[in-house]
Amino acid sequence: MNILVIGGGGREHAIIQKLKEDPRVEKIFALPGNGGIAADAICLGGSAVDIPAAVAAARDNSIDFVVVAPDDPLVLGMVDALEAEGFPCFGPRKNAAVIEGSKAFSKDLMKKYGIPTAAYETFTDLSRALAYVEACPLPTVVKADGLALGKGVLICETRKEAREAVRSMMEGRLFGDSGATVVIEEFLTGPEVSVLSFTDGETVVPMVSSMDHKRALDGDQGLNTGGMGTVAPNPYYTSEIAAECMEKIFLPTIRAMKAEGRPFKGCLYFGLMLTAEGPRVIEYNCRFGDPETQVVLPLLESSLLEIMLAVSKGTLAETEVKFSQKSACCVILASRGYPQKYDKDLPITLPATEADERIYIAGATEKDGKLLTSGGRVLGAAAVAEDLPAAIGKAYALADRIHFDNAFCRRDIGQRALKALEEKK
Ligand code: AMP
Ligand code: GLY
Repeated sequence: MNILVIGGGGREHAIIQKLKEDPRVEKIFALPGNGGIAADAICLGGSAVDIPAAVAAARDNSIDFVVVAPDDPLVLGMVDALEAEGFPCFGPRKNAAVIEGSKAFSKDLMKKYGIPTAAYETFTDLSRALAYVEACPLPTVVKADGLALGKGVLICETRKEAREAVRSMMEGRLFGDSGATVVIEEFLTGPEVSVLSFTDGETVVPMVSSMDHKRALDGDQGLNTGGMGTVAPNPYYTSEIAAECMEKIFLPTIRAMKAEGRPFKGCLYFGLMLTAEGPRVIEYNCRFGDPETQVVLPLLESSLLEIMLAVSKGTLAETEVKFSQKSACCVILASRGYPQKYDKDLPITLPATEADERIYIAGATEKDGKLLTSGGRVLGAAAVAEDLPAAIGKAYALADRIHFDNAFCRRDIGQRALKALEEKK
């Protein structure tokens, strides 16, 4: 089979490497791909949101199956366009991708179907939003309705901050049109867990849980980023909590989307907070997480291709989805300055890797046979081991063998998870 993967980051590199393990895969194309992914796929360049280019790439390369990985093409309806031309896809249609594309939609869905989440109000009117934050409990959380590269959430400790957040989103359009509507919600506390799941619209199969580290610096300091590292499984996510989430969150969400005439097929990502009152949904994503995928897929023992085909055909219930009992850790190497200004075009030296080590390239180009940095998050160093401490040790040992000038990483990926393991004892 010939496969086309839309996207060009570390997540897509992880998906491509996993798909390649299935002997049925002949060629993999990536649109756009990147200089590092080029070692594993034919990279077409261009833009991941270019729907006509995706359809043309599928036609020109005799593609049998398309995986649309990033949020924006999904929200724009790339799957609908590809399916209309007869190309089977992994990924939700536009009317289901809205579960990530609009926070107002997802919050209303949860309210209507009794799915536990933070209490909230939605505003399209600036003066009403400003009046609301004069009296709401503090801290409060102000969210832009639409996609904002994972940055559309502001946690406000004071009324002044809340006023400024509302004004910057609704008036200043800090996140563009994403902020025309804002959701203001209750501030929750508790450990966060990412649970990615496969679903064909009827059956939902959660993957191994994981923990992201969103802040740029050690000790959860510094600016919010796309994610600086991950571990799996997440020790806070016990089998009791998993069972509760299945009953109160996962199945009700899949059923709700079906009842709304928006069956969700693909990877549905549940961003959860484990509060004292039980698990709450913080966000839904209509796609694999990045860098969660870089620790979840290395633990998948079944064929990713087989599962993705089953999701597309609606036969997930009859398909084996098996995860290893081992642990994984991924450390992101970024260019100094990220998530703000950083240098590009720095040569990257990669070491040889062993069987349980993976390097997932996120931001690099190839020039004259050399790999050069092109993004803030440059790559992920991931490793699988018998337990979490060993996986963390191995991922850092791998990261330390990789070189580019001005590289930096958090040195505490997984430390919170280790503490949780200690507390459990
Ligand atoms: P999101 O972009 O929705 O993933 O939100 C970014 C981060 O903001 C989450 O990972 C949480 O740490 C935090 N956050 C979002 N909503 C809330 C909330 N209601 N209470 C506390 N923290 C939140
Ligand atoms: N790592 C968070 C996300 O993919 O949205």
